[in-house]
Amino acid sequence: MAALVLAAAGRARILQLASKANPTWYPVSSFSSSSVPTVKLFIDGKFVESRSDKWIDIHNPATNEVIGRVPQSTKAEMDAAVAACKRSFPTWADTSILSRQQIFLRYQQLIKENLKEIARLITLEQGKTLADAEGDVFRGLQVVEHACSVTSLMLGETMPSITKDMDLYSYRLPLGVCAGIAPFNFPAMIPLWMFPMAMVCGNTFLMKPSERVPGATMLLAKLLQDSGAPDGTLNIIHGQHEAVNFICDHPDIKAISFVGSNQAGEYIFERGSRHGKRVQANMGAKNHGVIMPDANKENTLNQLVGAAFGAAGQRCMALSTAILVGEAKKWLPELVERAKKLRVNAGDQPGADLGPLITPQAKERVCNLIDSGTKEGASILLDGRKIKVKGYENGNFVGPTIISNVKPNMTCYKEEIFGPVLVVLETETLDEAIKIVNDNPYGNGTAIFTTNGATARKYSHLVDVGQVGVNVPIPVPLPMFSFTGSRSSFRGDTNFYGKQQVTHIIKQEQHGILSSSNGLHHSPN
Ligand SMILES: *[C@@H]1O[C@H](CO)[C@@H](O)[C@H](O)[C@H]1NC(C)=O
Ligand SMILES: *[C@@H]1O[C@H](CO)[C@@H](O)[C@H](O)[C@H]1NC(C)=O
Repeated sequence: MAALVLAAAGRARILQLASKANPTWYPVSSFSSSSVPTVKLFIDGKFVESRSDKWIDIHNPATNEVIGRVPQSTKAEMDAAVAACKRSFPTWADTSILSRQQIFLRYQQLIKENLKEIARLITLEQGKTLADAEGDVFRGLQVVEHACSVTSLMLGETMPSITKDMDLYSYRLPLGVCAGIAPFNFPAMIPLWMFPMAMVCGNTFLMKPSERVPGATMLLAKLLQDSGAPDGTLNIIHGQHEAVNFICDHPDIKAISFVGSNQAGEYIFERGSRHGKRVQANMGAKNHGVIMPDANKENTLNQLVGAAFGAAGQRCMALSTAILVGEAKKWLPELVERAKKLRVNAGDQPGADLGPLITPQAKERVCNLIDSGTKEGASILLDGRKIKVKGYENGNFVGPTIISNVKPNMTCYKEEIFGPVLVVLETETLDEAIKIVNDNPYGNGTAIFTTNGATARKYSHLVDVGQVGVNVPIPVPLPMFSFTGSRSSFRGDTNFYGKQQVTHIIKQEQHGILSSSNGLHHSPN
């Protein structure tokens, strides 16, 4: 903490860091009349109170108490944020890559020092357990570390003597103002997928965090400022549909990164592309784990329980569907026993394995999908709908739920449930399992559990999914690779992070350099 306290000292009037004694977990203005903390906007290096007359309550999902309010930014505020991005761009783009890299080297250090504090904000607003929240920050931190080593990805190409007196050079240059729209489920990781890579490459960034979980993004912005990012290079607006439309339409925004639901993603892809922007949209998922009878049972069941119910199933990489092949169906009772042992509690309670869902509406939706399973002929082997958590009776809790005898035409199979619900199908052969996975519209991630190398290879070659794990339940790549969903899980032509992310935020320019008797001439190609 020491380093942050030093760095923050000059700005203590803007940001009062949270501590047990001081529950003020947002930058709160001294003139705020309300006792509920309000979330600031971050424009041109300042945390400012919105003048909006439209505010949204933020709830603690474990209690449903109102813990803060977030503004729906006004048009003037959003315009000011983009203007700040645009104004700071030329200087930032001209700042040497080594200086930009140094800022991100300091940033990764400050994130490490404040990891627990960021995680606490995530648990408070999002509900996940502290361990899951730390994982959320940690996965984002890996992208920041990757941003520190971006230099080799920024190299252009050269070709000498493309004609007798001309050489050709290609440069990778920043695009300009980029924007990010983040979902509620990973309040630190997903924003950190977005602005660090864009900014280290020389772009400036407009971030819109989820209106339900803005706290982590605000603290991350503060830490980036403390790392030395110049005023205006990162700006934050809040809001819902109007803010999204604003980002899709604004002519000064060149590229959009989005993660969230299919409905929103298709809309943003369509509307942003229509305005000539590059859009990458990572969307919904239905990830299948295929369990072969020759798998290591102990390892497979443990992995399955963690991947299906961890983060209360509110992650697009949750392994929400299990296909038990042949004799593997005999493991079902044991799977139920293990899931029963998971402890459901508020995320900040010791020993909690899973926390609440984000809203009462999310809980209702998940419960309705479980009901639909019963109506359509599936069997509920473990039912988490009626769970009561002592001391948190108003929280949005759903316990681990397992639905078996599921068929591909059932609603609980077709919809992404986004809750702690594992849907189980059975097949006789691997080929039938592959057909089910490939017939599903989503292609985010999948896993096979087997000890047979030939089976694993066959599966990973025949299955049409972006990310495949062999005995690894959630195959999310590290940041030097790209995040590669496929089919309905992704829209765009460049994926998140890795080399592809750089391609998303870079323009490629080529210059021929002509040598003549007058010396060197640049001749734009
Ligand atoms: C896949 O899962 C990730 C991680 O949970 C999520 O952020 C993303 O939106 C999903 N979709 C795609 C196409 O990657
Ligand atoms: C699924 O298909 C089976 C067999 O074709 C049919 O009997 C059943 O009613 C269908 N269920 C739903 C929910 O459509």
